Amino acid sequence: MPDLFSPIQLGPLEIANRIAIAPMCQYSADDGAASEWHVQHWMTLGMSGAGMVTVEMTDVERRGRISHGCLGLYSDADEAAAKRALVAAREFSIPGTKFGPQLAHAGRKASCNRPWEGGGPLSPEQDAWQTVSASAIPYDTGWHTPHALTEPEIVAMIRKFGDAARRAARVGYDFIEVHGAHGYLIHQFLSPLSNKREDDWGGSLENRMRFAIEVVREIRKAAPDLMIGIRLSVKDWVEGGLVEDETVEVAKALKSVGVSYICCSSGGNSPHQKIPVGPGYQVHLAEYVKQRVDIPVRAVGMIDEPALANSIISEGRADMTAHARAILADPRWGWRAAAALGHRIEIPPQFQRASHLVKQWATPA
Ligand SMILES: Cc1cc2nc3c(=O)[nH]c(=O)nc-3n(C[C@H](O)[C@H](O)[C@H](O)COP(=O)(O)O)c2cc1C
Repeated sequence: MPDLFSPIQLGPLEIANRIAIAPMCQYSADDGAASEWHVQHWMTLGMSGAGMVTVEMTDVERRGRISHGCLGLYSDADEAAAKRALVAAREFSIPGTKFGPQLAHAGRKASCNRPWEGGGPLSPEQDAWQTVSASAIPYDTGWHTPHALTEPEIVAMIRKFGDAARRAARVGYDFIEVHGAHGYLIHQFLSPLSNKREDDWGGSLENRMRFAIEVVREIRKAAPDLMIGIRLSVKDWVEGGLVEDETVEVAKALKSVGVSYICCSSGGNSPHQKIPVGPGYQVHLAEYVKQRVDIPVRAVGMIDEPALANSIISEGRADMTAHARAILADPRWGWRAAAALGHRIEIPPQFQRASHLVKQWATPA
């Protein structure tokens, strides 16, 4: 069996193979509630052949949404809509496929336009809202200046992650991924670029990671049966920003409070970042964390070819690979990977007459 298709244990949860769908915002929700778009999207992802489907960034309160279209889990309506979409997705997904939301808060990067509407901050006429963060520092010139959360507000925010986790358990998800990356609220606390606090929640690394740790503790209390993972930006790619060795310490602390995997991404907290992108451009960051912390790591970023994904696992550089844009382009990527690597996976009988074509497309001429 190719290494990419070998099962893996993440805490209490066995995942059928090493392929994960990376979380991807769809900007198609209605006040946080999954729409018909999500029903078709999740049904498709459940049939992709990936063992793990990380549903998009799912915000724990209304003002935590990036845009008016972002998914949330802060109301009964959001919970009911997510349940409906998940039940539909599970009905036809490849048996064993695990689903989880990526619980998040956009912090100072909230109140923005959808990317296809140009992104960037909403204007007052577009129903903009007051954003929040660790410190009152905007992401960039012209962006909203966030309100620096007071200590009681931080405590209340942590509770909101717990409330959303309780809802996630009732929806029927298998796991929760915490969004600690890409310049959103948890990363805003972690990074010295955006956290200039002088209380217990800022300054030293121990203080900057306190919010992430407390969020995980609260989620564990609220949803003790769900496996918890986290996505981190391993580095900011900016002078004076978060660096690899700090993330290693954060990962160790997260493991000690019950996190079962770390998805190793990078950047997102500064417009001045310089990221050299190319195939597998963040794999070395997953490898860096893996060599120093005894916890499964997931690599992500332009891992578009099945052979590359398989070699990352075979060479022990990461334990799983996550895929985003390749899945949008080819939602049967898992089938193609199986064919390319000479592995057989079950595909629905309705589609089996196309098996030879999947195989043919997987074999370079
Ligand atoms: C449409 C789209 C939406 C995304 N939304 C999220 C998200 O909700 N949470 C997140 O952590 N990353 C998000 N990302 C980043 C991806 O998860 C992934 O890390 C990134 O695209 C690099 O992987 P890729 O080269 O396989 O696309 C998004 C990416 C895309 C293309």
